[in-house]
Amino acid sequence: MDIQIHQPLSNYTTIRIGGPAHFVADTHTVEELMAVETNAKRLGQKTYVIGGGSNLIGRDEGFDGVIIRNQIPGFDVIADDSESTTLKIGSGELWDSVVARTVDMQLSGIEALSLIPGTAGAAPVQNVGAYGQEVADTLQSVEAYDTTSGNMVELSWQDCEFSYRHSIFRGSSYGRYVITSITLKLYKKTPEPPFYAALQSYLDEHGIHEYDVATVREAVIAIRKDKLPDPSILPNAGSFFKNAIVEDWQRNSLLEQHPDMPSYKMDEKHYKIPTGWLIEQTGLKGESLHNMKVHDANALVLINQSATSYQDLANARAQIVGAVRDLFQITIEQEPLEITNQ
Ligand code: EPU
Repeated sequence: MDIQIHQPLSNYTTIRIGGPAHFVADTHTVEELMAVETNAKRLGQKTYVIGGGSNLIGRDEGFDGVIIRNQIPGFDVIADDSESTTLKIGSGELWDSVVARTVDMQLSGIEALSLIPGTAGAAPVQNVGAYGQEVADTLQSVEAYDTTSGNMVELSWQDCEFSYRHSIFRGSSYGRYVITSITLKLYKKTPEPPFYAALQSYLDEHGIHEYDVATVREAVIAIRKDKLPDPSILPNAGSFFKNAIVEDWQRNSLLEQHPDMPSYKMDEKHYKIPTGWLIEQTGLKGESLHNMKVHDANALVLINQSATSYQDLANARAQIVGAVRDLFQITIEQEPLEITNQ
């Protein structure tokens, strides 16, 4: 186990913002993780577990406890039949390497989640989703260390209470569980249209009419590279805001003023409105604000141009949220989680 002292959170978050953490511990096994958790508890130190830091923001005050970098490996077939293969995956595995391996095995279920940064253990926390798939569609269960009881537990799909970009891990049980493995059930079938609109347009434009998991993966990678900046070149945390969810009456009243507003039906009463579109209408797409920049290819992404403090990000965020509220009376919400001392 590797423990470092006084490390800036900006080095551990892809948006590269955040003051110092007292300790940073890399854990490679469940035993190491449990040892760090129990010792930290004994010494009165709090802990915060991170994966790739690609959906996280540090604050200027940093973290006065132990940041645990979860690097637990594992990729095992635990069940196999004529239709499906079930895999148990260590939470520290890089998510995109997992997707690549499942695509090589001709398994379908997470191919549209290609090139999403971060680790396998982080995927259920925000229920990662893209191009028509979300991890909740294939996840069976997770194993986790329960910091309340000090025991390992297994949580079923139902226990995780998934919804759009949400689960108990960032909601009612925030900070309680450290995910150590995820179990996914993937299918031995070829992906079939209709695909998510942007994916279908890419396939049509490139004359691709025979689909397998590898073609879908390649198409998703090409689309993402176009729309989402590489954080190693332009620091960012992926989508900085969630898409807005509104009730049907609100959508109808907005459509009277903005007849070209896109929206997608979620359930009987709710519609999703793309926040990228809302921000674009405010005129802020491509604008530099407080050393941050609204990405010119995708207004949902906020790039750290030269910000060195959380305050810059907070000022840019307030300006964007305010502009959207003024124009649409919708309060948009930040997607990445923040590391706090509370
Ligand atoms: N749009 C604009 N202007 C923009 C950006 C988007 O008008 O600058 C509108 C367009 O109408 C477009 C629509 O938004 O048709 C949807 O855009 P896109 O397909 O790019 O998806 P998104 O809703 O912006 C979500 C996820 C992404 C995921 C894509 C593809 C969230 C918060 N984001 O973005 O996930 O890759 O769908 O499925 O739900 C992430 O979470 O970090 C992420 C990248």
